[in-house]
Amino acid sequence: MDWILALVLGYALGSVPFGLLITRLAGAGDLRSIGSGNIGATNVLRTGRKGLAAATLLLDLLKGLVAVLVVAHFWPQWTGLAALAVFVGHCFPVWLSFRGGKGVATTAGVAFGLAWPVGLAYAVTWLGLLATVRISSVAGMSAAVVAPIAALALGHRDAALVLAVIAAIVLFQHRENIARLRAGTEPRVGSGKKA
Ligand code: G3P
Repeated sequence: MDWILALVLGYALGSVPFGLLITRLAGAGDLRSIGSGNIGATNVLRTGRKGLAAATLLLDLLKGLVAVLVVAHFWPQWTGLAALAVFVGHCFPVWLSFRGGKGVATTAGVAFGLAWPVGLAYAVTWLGLLATVRISSVAGMSAAVVAPIAALALGHRDAALVLAVIAAIVLFQHRENIARLRAGTEPRVGSGKKA
């Protein structure tokens, strides 16, 4: 029955839409009708509230990290399941009719929880591309693809499998971003464009 606890804890934590809650509590509107409509930190930034965006990034990352570390402590054999559950909870929360985020920040927390060097590879890719290319979706998708490769290269076979499934879903969640990238209309971070 431990697997049910790991699954429920992971999903419940992942399904807390921090970006949506924080923005609403701060009186900055409903994120789903702003910019890309996404509930993640990039879209919170489009409200012009940098502090709220940073808080969203941190909390979305922390929920991934906490879910993985707690389950790894109590039921280590179900760590991979918790990693998937917290990610799925973020992307498909029951509270928002299963229309959640794209999973980039939560995956960072998951990667750090599964194996910190993999988290580091994820963070370096993500932040490096964010600083140079300045397109959030490109940075996020690239980091998600790098994670399972890094995990495999570092000998974390189970983590690699989990992160490969997560990467596929991250790409799927970015389908609208991919269409905008192909059309050349995906906005750069800080450009002021609303996606
Ligand atoms: O983490 C989400 C990011 O990759 C894209 O966000 O709002 O530009 O679709 P957004």
